[in-house]
Amino acid sequence: SFIGIDLGTSSVKAVLVDDRQRLLATAARELVVSRPAPLWSEQEPADWVAATLDVLRSLRDATPDAFRRCAGIGLSGQMHGAVLLNERDEPLRPCILWNDGRAEAECTEIEAIEPESRAITGNIAMPGFTAPKLLWVRRHEPDIFRRTRKILLPKAYLRLVLTGEAIEEMSDASGTLWLDTGRRDWSDRMLAATGLDRSHMPALVEGSQPAGRMRPDLSRELGFDAPPLFAGGAGDNAAGAIGLGAVATGSSFLSLGTSGVLWRTTAGFEPRAGSAVHAFCHALPKRWHQMSVHLSAAASLSWWASISGQSEAALLSELGPQAEQPSPVLFTPYLSGERTPHNDPQMRGIFAGLGHEADRRTMTQAVLEGVAFAFRDGKEALEAGTSPIEEALAIGGGARSDLWLSILADTLNLPLKRYRQAEAGAAFGAARLARLACTGEQPETVCTPPSGEADTFMPHPARAAAYAERYAAWRRAAEVSRTLR
Ligand code: XUL
Repeated sequence: SFIGIDLGTSSVKAVLVDDRQRLLATAARELVVSRPAPLWSEQEPADWVAATLDVLRSLRDATPDAFRRCAGIGLSGQMHGAVLLNERDEPLRPCILWNDGRAEAECTEIEAIEPESRAITGNIAMPGFTAPKLLWVRRHEPDIFRRTRKILLPKAYLRLVLTGEAIEEMSDASGTLWLDTGRRDWSDRMLAATGLDRSHMPALVEGSQPAGRMRPDLSRELGFDAPPLFAGGAGDNAAGAIGLGAVATGSSFLSLGTSGVLWRTTAGFEPRAGSAVHAFCHALPKRWHQMSVHLSAAASLSWWASISGQSEAALLSELGPQAEQPSPVLFTPYLSGERTPHNDPQMRGIFAGLGHEADRRTMTQAVLEGVAFAFRDGKEALEAGTSPIEEALAIGGGARSDLWLSILADTLNLPLKRYRQAEAGAAFGAARLARLACTGEQPETVCTPPSGEADTFMPHPARAAAYAERYAAWRRAAEVSRTLR
């Protein structure tokens, strides 16, 4: 059997699958995000470790026999976060997360220091990426910068604790701005632009390659027969792609997690830096992808739930499975600023169009629609000058909502398909990478599209037309959001 662990932002999730890729057990533990200052978003790496050990014990308790015989573990992780380690591999400060917006000035600075930055990395420098965060630390916390010996992404830190090895894989490494994305290697020039060199970086492997083995003492303590092999794994979006079988050129999916992502697997390395589209390595050798990233997708709904003192489920249940017409209220989901297409960490969300008739229901619907409109911006950025996306699979916590997917299908004019089997998302993809690392099988034989029961959300012509009109008004609200700094 194989285990996949997804170190997310709102929780750590894990799955145990058997040799026929059947899901035997799942487990999850919540995580908290701390926001000690405006624009900041941080987590304690120790919390990830505690939650991970917890979910592993839950898997063991659910299916002791299969757990004992686990051959491999794959890691998926929230991308871009900076874990700074001293010479004893201890974190020097909390991890600065992917949706942290403090490093805006440092993005301009990096592109000034290394004018080839976009050509080398294929990406515009965005504050969520790792390299600008390090320049911020160098300027504002010089003592910590001086003591930093290694910088790891979240899942690489987890691997270090579980295996003792500092290893990263290409899909996640793409989000650092230190990778030469076309060559799949660290870029000495990008490292130098932030006062670093290769000694600060983990070794690089492909996501489907072996990357360490569990420490024997920990393996015994958890109850494995033999220490499981680790796969390189993947950034959470690439892991989602592996789980959905989105490995061939042109395959697309939409992820409605804390962040929102529209993904397309590309024929090669196809940078699009101008419109803040991400061009990253896939988690399999010689494959790349593009994605639009929206910083507050399901995060917008959980924010609105906390404001209104309701659970997300309660808010959704106040609305039906479909919206007959767009809400009279508009919402722009820029709670953490936005990446695609704006690359602006400081823009802020707004509710607009409020009247006495506005109530919790119309405002909840506006939140769902505002996120859908942001995805429409992303879709247009991905499609500009190239072929349209014809259909997409849907994953992520938010995709459990029929209403949200139907709004998205109408807003994007895009058929969306949701497989029951795909619920396990990125963790399931990570388990597939573990299998590839252990067996050396061909990716195509393992990374198949989901099968079984699926729900399809087709765009509805009249509603799609109404949303197209509403989008024009929403764009104006988005422009106002840009001026709210
Ligand atoms: C991708 C990104 C987010 C995180 C969420 O660039 O920042 O999707 O990976 O965990």
